[in-house]
Amino acid sequence: MSDEKTTHFGFQDVPEAEKAGMVHGVFSRVASKYDVMNDLMSMGIHRVWKDAMMDWLAPRSGQRLLDVAGGTGDVAFRFLKRAPGASAVVCDLTEPMLIEGRKRAEAEKMADRLDWVVGDAMALPFPDASFDTYTISFGIRNVTRIADALAEAYRVLRPGGRLMVLEFSQIPNDLMQKVYDLYSFNIIPAMGQFVTGDRGSYQYLVESIRKFPDQDSFAAMIRDAGFGQVKYRNLTMGVAALHSGWKL
Ligand SMILES: C[S@@+](CC[C@H](N)C(=O)[O-])C[C@H]1O[C@@H](n2cnc3c(N)ncnc32)[C@H](O)[C@@H]1O
Repeated sequence: MSDEKTTHFGFQDVPEAEKAGMVHGVFSRVASKYDVMNDLMSMGIHRVWKDAMMDWLAPRSGQRLLDVAGGTGDVAFRFLKRAPGASAVVCDLTEPMLIEGRKRAEAEKMADRLDWVVGDAMALPFPDASFDTYTISFGIRNVTRIADALAEAYRVLRPGGRLMVLEFSQIPNDLMQKVYDLYSFNIIPAMGQFVTGDRGSYQYLVESIRKFPDQDSFAAMIRDAGFGQVKYRNLTMGVAALHSGWKL
């Protein structure tokens, strides 16, 4: 019997060493249609959730943000718009996502306040204590070892810095969960096929949502990484959740 470690990629078990490459493949394939698909799949609600993230985060001028798995820059743009004197680094495993983001930054005249860095959440290419705020939005469920990503978040934050995670979560009501599953497992992969010609990537997306820990289990993981004052807020009845923690 092989003692190679495995993990999940959606509902499949895969060798741990292969997951990042598979995730990279998914986001390389969808990068050019990522923003439009986000609006279609969520009927625009991801914008409301990202605004709720900013309301809780309350960005301030002079702060330096690290947005990990930042993709096309949605979270970083919002942060910079709310805090005119702030700066941000968007770090992501998949360069085609960052390339789309850079085009948006130029169009929105924010390119001079942003850096785009290819890197892995589990081994961030930044020194200790170098950011005031760490965000990760719809990214952490794709990471092979979530505990390693949280340890890296803790390392790169300065003391007094804040972590905020936006991620799909679990709906506490069984009936609502069934309705949501019907929508996500039937409509989203079909929509992905229609818009991007790539059903498999969107099948992965919905499966990965179901594999992610529930709100309380994820809050415990954040505490285990050393963060204090860990709290969460459900969004749209728990379809998504925001988790906040501080490096005290
Ligand atoms: C669903 S997108 C989210 C993009 C953006 N944060 C948003 O909210 O729209 C997930 C992103 O996570 C990135 N990603 C996945 N695993 C990663 C890892 N281990 N390190 C850094 N980025 C990762 C993917 O490349 C992809 O751009």
